[in-house]
Order: sequence, then C-alpha cells, then structure tokens
Amino acid sequence: MIKEVLTIGDARLLQTSLPVNLSEFNTEKLQLLITDMRDTMKSRGGVGISAVQIGIAKRIAIIEFDGNNPRYRDIGDCPLTVIINPLVESIDDELIEYPEGCLSVPEIRALVARPKGVRYSFYDQTGRLIKGVSDQFFARVLQHEVDHMDGILFPMRVKQMNRKEI
Ligand code: NI
Repeated sequence: MIKEVLTIGDARLLQTSLPVNLSEFNTEKLQLLITDMRDTMKSRGGVGISAVQIGIAKRIAIIEFDGNNPRYRDIGDCPLTVIINPLVESIDDELIEYPEGCLSVPEIRALVARPKGVRYSFYDQTGRLIKGVSDQFFARVLQHEVDHMDGILFPMRVKQMNRKEI
C-alpha cells in the first residue's frame, strides 16, 4: 500500500531509528512494511527508501533501481535489496561529490560529498547476514539510507548551498 512520505520539516525524520529485533525477522508484519515501502518508493520513482520516511522509526531500508531510471544515468541495476540493521564503513579517504535527491526533500537536488567505497553488512528480511564492498551507485544510496536511520537528511551534508550573494 502506498503510504504518505514525510517531508523535510517534519521532526519525525530527525529521530534515530531503532534496530530490528531478532523476533521481528520472518514475520508477516515485517513483510507488509517492506511491501508498503516498495509500493511507496516505486510510486514516486525513488531508488531507495527508509522506514522512517513513512513514519516507522526502525533501521530498515530498501534499495532497488535499474539503468532506466530517468533521474540517474549509468547506474547499473540493483534488484530489490532489503537492508536491516546495516553497518557501513568507508574504505576511501577521499570523498567524491554526487548529486543526490530524496523523496523527503521534494524538488531539490544537491552535490553531497561521501566516500566512494564502503564496506557493509546488513540483514535481509529473513535474518540472513549479507556482507560486501561497493564503490558503485549502490554505495551512495546505502549511505544515504543509513543517514535516514540516524536522522540525517542530505541537505544537512551539503557543504555549500548556492545562496544568492548579498
Ligand atoms: Ni532519502
């Protein structure tokens, strides 16, 4: 079911999401939440969404995209990936800038500097531990979604807004 997406200015987006408990994996409730998140993300043409964006402050995100996304070019494909209780660490000293947008920050895109490469681990909806390394678009989206879980929206990471000089 398509849910309302909270937008910037809503204090609920600034909360820190709670980890998912072991007892919550493999439940119908979790599956329903993931389905709602996916329906909502797809209805808005997004490539990732965190549960907190639909008002559920749990450390759950999904990422799914293909090369046909009109918002981003040359990003490759990522089948539906459910990300629960993620840990992400940089493997790059250097930050690179890339234009980001967010379903919770309508009509704004801005360059955000983040490490290109990350090492990650997370659980899927069945409780299986997934580990990997990425320096692709997936790494960018993953870092953006983990930020949501920590109450951070991408404009908070923009170093310089192009404000009119006065
Ligand atoms: Ni976002």
